[in-house]
Amino acid sequence: MTSPDTSTSDTPTAIDTVRLDLGPRSYDILVGDRVLDGAGPRIAAITGGKAPIVVTDENVAPLHLPTLERTLRESGIEPTQAIVLPAGEKTKDIAHFERLMDAVLARGIERSAVLLALGGGVIGDITGFAAASALRGIDFIQVPTTLLSQVDSSVGGKTGINSPHGKNLIGAFHQPRLVIADTATLDTLPRREVLAGYAEVVKYGLIRLPGFFAWLEENGERVVAGDSDARRHAVTESCRAKAAIVGADERESGDRALLNLGHTFGHALEAATGFGSRLLHGEAVSIGMVLAFDLSVRLGLCPAEDAEKARAHLARVGLPVRPTDIPGVEWDVDGLILSMAKDKKVKDGRIAFVLVRALGDAFTQRDVDPAVVRALLEDAVAR
Ligand code: NAD
Ligand code: GLY
Repeated sequence: MTSPDTSTSDTPTAIDTVRLDLGPRSYDILVGDRVLDGAGPRIAAITGGKAPIVVTDENVAPLHLPTLERTLRESGIEPTQAIVLPAGEKTKDIAHFERLMDAVLARGIERSAVLLALGGGVIGDITGFAAASALRGIDFIQVPTTLLSQVDSSVGGKTGINSPHGKNLIGAFHQPRLVIADTATLDTLPRREVLAGYAEVVKYGLIRLPGFFAWLEENGERVVAGDSDARRHAVTESCRAKAAIVGADERESGDRALLNLGHTFGHALEAATGFGSRLLHGEAVSIGMVLAFDLSVRLGLCPAEDAEKARAHLARVGLPVRPTDIPGVEWDVDGLILSMAKDKKVKDGRIAFVLVRALGDAFTQRDVDPAVVRALLEDAVAR
């Protein structure tokens, strides 16, 4: 699925192309250092030579919009003014969605219009949902600029916004036409955000790729430090893993649920900390994955040494691995359990846990003894 592209002097490093196979809705994910620099022709091929409507945020605009606009101009496209939204999770609400839709529709668009999301998962999710909604669905392109969005949210077509009732509860499946993951954009990303994205990279190793996990044990610190080859390999392998899972189960009726390893616990931890900067999504996933391994050990499903290996690697790169690693939070086990019971994946009142038999061998299970979950959480918040 991965093939080296031809390199030019303007794009000196290799570019990997990962194909997500979904029949007529298949698309390429381009991964490489400075791949955005020469991406104009690929974008033009989708827009029919017209300018895409670029949506970005106020942090990303000054850093990476000039590169996008340069490559568009080099391809004969005069960019139109980008729509710049405030940065951060609070932007993924109905008020900003309305503002975005208004800005898009005010341009008098036709069905051939193409949106382009330049930014992290917040921009990708809200822009994708705007593309799914405008004129009942127009094309969009993802240019993810955080590690989390490059390895996870830009791939697979889950789009949406948050509701006061919960995170990501309003949305649609709508696949992008192209994903351009330029790993050089990560040079400007704060280290804490890089680490949060790295948790999702480790997730692929833990759910089904033990060899990739072993590679990360050797090379994870190079990935986080920004080594160009290591970073490209990590993003490419992650996208390849996600593309294989989504290609086989687009609507999450089977294996796609494995991508939620650590997320049921993680969402509850995020809810308790207000979905803000106290605990980033990837940090919550890191703690949640350790809890999922510990739960699997307690249920007699997984060897304790595998859980320890997962925990040790996440801790070594600098990720939090237990709720008490987050300073100043009074954890309330009843509140965490209540949040978990409200998860989108709850069916007939039963929580779907992603558990593990070993490193790289995850599966889902609904009939987990609530007493074991409670005891696990009580111990975790006391340590
Ligand atoms: P984000 O989009 O908020 O980006 C994090 C921060 O980094 C923001 O302040 C942003 O402005 C800044 N930033 C982005 N790129 C930068 C760069 N290159 N240099 C400097 N700063 C930069 O957050 P995120 O972690 O990318 O994404 C989180 C969102 O993704 C959540 O809303 C989550 O629900 C969603 N998500 C969606 C999926 C999916 O499948 N659709 C999967 C996982 C997560
Ligand atoms: N991030 C989980 C999914 O895309 O299914």
